[in-house]
Amino acid sequence: MAIPEDVIDQIQDRADIVEVISRYIPLKKTGRSYKALCPFHHEKTPSFVVSPDKKIFHCFGCGAGGNVFSFVIRHENLEFPEVIEMLAKKTGVILPRNITRQKEDVSSFASQLYKINELACQFFQTCLAGDDTARDYLNSRGIGDETIKFFKIGYAPNAWEALLSFFKKRGVQEAVLEKAGLAIANDRGGYYDRFRHRVIFPIIDLKERIVGFGGRVLDASLPKYINSPETYIYSKGRNLYGLNFSKEDIKKRGYVLVVEGYLDFIIPYQAGIANLIATLGTALTIDQVKLLKRFTNTVIMVYDPDEAGEAASLRNLDIFISEDVNVYVAELPSGYDPDSYIRKFGAEEFTRVIKSSKNLFDYKLDKTASRFDIKSAHGKARIAAEMLPTIARISNAVLKSNLVKRLAEALSVDEEAIRTELKKVKPDYEARHYIIEPQEGKKDFRSAEKMVLSLMLEEGRFVKMVGENLSIDEFKDSAVRDIAKVIIELYKERKEIRPAKLINHLENKEEAAILISEVAGLAETFQDKEKAVTDCIARIKKDNIRDELDRLQVAIKAAHNSKDENKVKRLLVEYDSLVRNSKV
Ligand code: CTP
Ligand code: MN
Repeated sequence: MAIPEDVIDQIQDRADIVEVISRYIPLKKTGRSYKALCPFHHEKTPSFVVSPDKKIFHCFGCGAGGNVFSFVIRHENLEFPEVIEMLAKKTGVILPRNITRQKEDVSSFASQLYKINELACQFFQTCLAGDDTARDYLNSRGIGDETIKFFKIGYAPNAWEALLSFFKKRGVQEAVLEKAGLAIANDRGGYYDRFRHRVIFPIIDLKERIVGFGGRVLDASLPKYINSPETYIYSKGRNLYGLNFSKEDIKKRGYVLVVEGYLDFIIPYQAGIANLIATLGTALTIDQVKLLKRFTNTVIMVYDPDEAGEAASLRNLDIFISEDVNVYVAELPSGYDPDSYIRKFGAEEFTRVIKSSKNLFDYKLDKTASRFDIKSAHGKARIAAEMLPTIARISNAVLKSNLVKRLAEALSVDEEAIRTELKKVKPDYEARHYIIEPQEGKKDFRSAEKMVLSLMLEEGRFVKMVGENLSIDEFKDSAVRDIAKVIIELYKERKEIRPAKLINHLENKEEAAILISEVAGLAETFQDKEKAVTDCIARIKKDNIRDELDRLQVAIKAAHNSKDENKVKRLLVEYDSLVRNSKV
């Protein structure tokens, strides 16, 4: 049973946002709102604002924002139901028994893609059952049949259209498979399977939905791995491989091991070491760190020493420090990864390596000290230059001061000298917003869409205008789209639309909170709001038509190259009518 909306509303009405936040940080009244130093990033002048009228907070420095629940979720690293429970107690609201997370609400296109991935996964699993070579390969890598089943591992046959024809029989269009990342368009207007002759590892999200796949060759050919591209439902930078399997164990043990590859996840897991996640070979993003923080505050990076020697890979760890995560580094002997190490020496030996991990500061100091001559003035300066940015990110003053002292001792220099240098380190952290930055050239669509959102929050009749003139899929930004969809639904149900309450209705609350607090009030001062809505709708439509025309152009060219004149004709008609109807 989901938490009933009226109960959530009741808690929110009773929990005064100013009162709740001021239990965590001191707030200062300025005019109708309250200000503070933002607890979510480092700053010297307050840019964190709480609005009791709107019942939201927003930080103009780092972009953090949301309602009273978002604040507690973030500050205490809890999940929505846990915060509801906590605030219910504090406000004396009685919760119905057996509450669970709210039922998910996903757009029909998203659910279509999940369904396709589910079917594709079953197809790959069936193919694996019928292919000895692929099964032998997995067995040779130490993956047993139970494990294959558990991780839903499959095999994509050695053919160009195996999956395509599987879906053709089920009436799924090739273009949709392309959007799912399973098919690739060729330059002759046709499609082919993305995954061919590879063992397949499904990537599963926290809600147990298959969001993408990774495929490994069975031999030494290249590329070794192929992964799903970014799709409507899969964003690499926001997923961590295996977290759906390991989250409970991570909570229980109080720390997480961060490894790189699929096999580095699966082999330890099979051996009973289940509190881990895999980054799939990419640098960690702030979203991934925040995702992990929901389960633990302590991270052990399991490193190949050759890579760890790289300054860049150590610098990537500073992202954890900024987020107040305790980071340790465990080093395997050169040339080993968790998979090969466990296979050779066993899980117990691996656990010993983990137990001998060092905290990031010591580890980094060791590494840099071995790269430079710690006795020369030049060497000391280089070591300090590597260490100071890490220290600068630590928010706890006592800890920071302690590390300054230790660095000074290690370099045998005066503490004051280190402190002076530390002051020169730029807090590059402030520049990195929590909001996913739009890619180059996409700024415009995002701003028009955000503006529409802001106007929809202002007045119900604007929701009606948007609902009548735009279809939900015309929003390109998935975060905006999700929010707009809920607003329209609430409007149809004649429910009140308030920024602070809206957040509770969204599935991806953290992202929604940030965006909603950012746009709430954006359109407040507009002179002609009605015109703004009309303009923004027109702008969004125009952008979409441009995209569609681009797509048609490519398709026409491809059809032309493959001498499919009928298709060319058909596409040209489509192109013309689009141009005519849209007056682009
Ligand atoms: N990876 C990738 N594309 C590649 C190579 C690697 O996406 N061309 C990702 C995969 O998720 C892989 C991880 O990076 O699991 C680690 O890569 P690597 O260390 O090269 O491979 P292993 O995991 O050790 O691969 P294996 O043990 O299967 O040889
Ligand atoms: Mn490996």
